Amino acid sequence: MSFANSHEIITNQDGVHEHLVSIVEKHLSHPFQKPIHPRSLAGFKQVEQQVEQLGKPIIFDSCCGVGDSTINLAKLHPDHFIIGMDKSGHRLNKNEAYEQHGIDNFMLLRTDLNDFWRLAVEAQMLPQKHYILYPNPWPKAKHVQRRWHGAAVFPSIIALGGELEMRSNWRLYLDEFKLALQVAGQEGEVAQFEPSPTITPFERKYQASGQALFKLTAKLSLG
Ligand SMILES: C[S@@+](CC[C@H](N)C(=O)[O-])C[C@H]1O[C@@H](n2cnc3c(N)ncnc32)[C@H](O)[C@@H]1O
Repeated sequence: MSFANSHEIITNQDGVHEHLVSIVEKHLSHPFQKPIHPRSLAGFKQVEQQVEQLGKPIIFDSCCGVGDSTINLAKLHPDHFIIGMDKSGHRLNKNEAYEQHGIDNFMLLRTDLNDFWRLAVEAQMLPQKHYILYPNPWPKAKHVQRRWHGAAVFPSIIALGGELEMRSNWRLYLDEFKLALQVAGQEGEVAQFEPSPTITPFERKYQASGQALFKLTAKLSLG
């Protein structure tokens, strides 16, 4: 990842995706049927066991990349157990050294969130806070269903409940997520912010490149 020369998002959308509402409605009314991968189930069981043993409130750091944010959140929330998750094991491995840094209230898991979130909902292993920091933007209109709010797993993000915080350098991503929340009967707020300190590598890179950063916050109510 090169530093301080990150480009602004380029998209062929001039506003919220024209089909977003119908896509979200479709996903809300049809359960996501894709079979859970056995590896995802095994990883989930490992987390579930640890969470049960610890008996602490949990925080999800979804799409945690190398896990820097997971470490930072663990320091900020010593009474919580932070679960950092990313599908890229290569990225996660970079942070193994942190485990020797005197904090043990976190774990990093390689998993596909399309599976993990559904498993967590099914087991009612629900986070008090849920961070999704700088998700892949997929800025081309034709890729809207790869954005989390356009994905079939979106209803599970809501069903996890808790205080959701998403951050992005692309405001439209968060405005779309907010609209998707509204379609699901939930409320969210989007605002520009200045991270101090920065807690993820992408955040550091965007800030060093002078880009505006945005966050969406929502208190998800379980119906
Ligand atoms: C732009 S990076 C941001 C990483 C980190 N949050 C940061 O701010 O530095 C997006 C991350 O989302 C992860 N990701 C994308 N889809 C995923 C999925 N289905 N399950 C788990 N992780 C996923 C990618 O592997 C990547 O590490």
